[in-house]
Amino acid sequence: MDKKIVFSGIQPSGEPTIGNYIGAIRNWVEIQNNEDYDSIYCIVDMHAITVPQVPKDLRKHTLEVLSLLLATGLDPEKTTLFIQSHVSAHAELNWVLNSLTYMGQLNRMTQYKDKSKRFEDSSINSGLFTYPVLMAADILLYQTDYVPVGEDQRQHLELSRDIAERFNNRYSETFKVPEALIKKEGARIMSLQDPESKMSKSDSNEDSYILLLDNGDAIRRKIKRAVTDSEGVVAYNDQQKGLKNLIDIYSAFTNEGLDTIVARYNGKGYGVFKEDLSEVVAEGLRPIQERYKDLINNKDYLEKVYKEGAEKAEYRAMKTLRKVYKKIGFIPR
Ligand code: TYM
Repeated sequence: MDKKIVFSGIQPSGEPTIGNYIGAIRNWVEIQNNEDYDSIYCIVDMHAITVPQVPKDLRKHTLEVLSLLLATGLDPEKTTLFIQSHVSAHAELNWVLNSLTYMGQLNRMTQYKDKSKRFEDSSINSGLFTYPVLMAADILLYQTDYVPVGEDQRQHLELSRDIAERFNNRYSETFKVPEALIKKEGARIMSLQDPESKMSKSDSNEDSYILLLDNGDAIRRKIKRAVTDSEGVVAYNDQQKGLKNLIDIYSAFTNEGLDTIVARYNGKGYGVFKEDLSEVVAEGLRPIQERYKDLINNKDYLEKVYKEGAEKAEYRAMKTLRKVYKKIGFIPR
């Protein structure tokens, strides 16, 4: 049986949050360890520059994210791990797909609408607008079957499918039409300060997210300040959104069912629950942070990983790109 191809990506626009971890990265590790899948994971630096980045910070964050991915258990022997800008086929296919994507479709992307709110109309760059097309290029280059992502990427995945189908209809079967792989649990971890919006590393309020490298004190402080409600009862429902999110996080780190957790805190206050949750998160992140400390200082190893990853990815990407160029009428060199 042919292995199913899995592709996903993460932006190095800062240090990943536990939202990234719960919604995506921990699933990537699970998939990598499943013989039925052939997985490819990419650090998407080209996506990151759609919002202003300080060059030296972008370089630093790219290596930090690579180290963190390795520290969470991704293994370059079992998976392909690379940096997007190292494989130029991504930019090349992006250009082709731009010519197949309608402005109207891009205008409907909710993430674009949210992100562009931060800028004046005259300073929204066109990269932010065509961001989802580059994402489609990432995915389609590898003839991807499944894309494990958090809930916030669902609409982008739909667009990738549309673009693939449009290309296939116009030029004959070329791309596999990918499917989003979104788990029911943990696909949308919310801000600790506003349980109506997702946890995001670009949030201006540091108390709203927990970073994978936060120490025990920071974790405790942020969870203590997390917004809950005045019910005073640890329960899992949509009226107590803040608490619901905290229980989701607890469950993600302990792999315990929601009912088990709720039962444990029956009759206990939020204070006790938050104390324990802080411990659970800090304990869960500790081994990752320990491995990270060694990795980030081992520049030679990191370089070896991303170079070998790029070679493997490029070989596969070029196969698709050559096919695409031929189909659309470009003359081979
Ligand atoms: P990015 O870098 O914002 O996030 C990486 C992954 O983490 C998930 N995620 C979350 N999941 C649950 N709760 C949250 N609060 C949360 N925040 C983030 C995201 O859904 C994502 O899976 N556009 C993508 C990167 C990308 C990509 C791709 C993904 C570029 N090309 C191709 C898949 C395939 C992004 O900005 O992810």
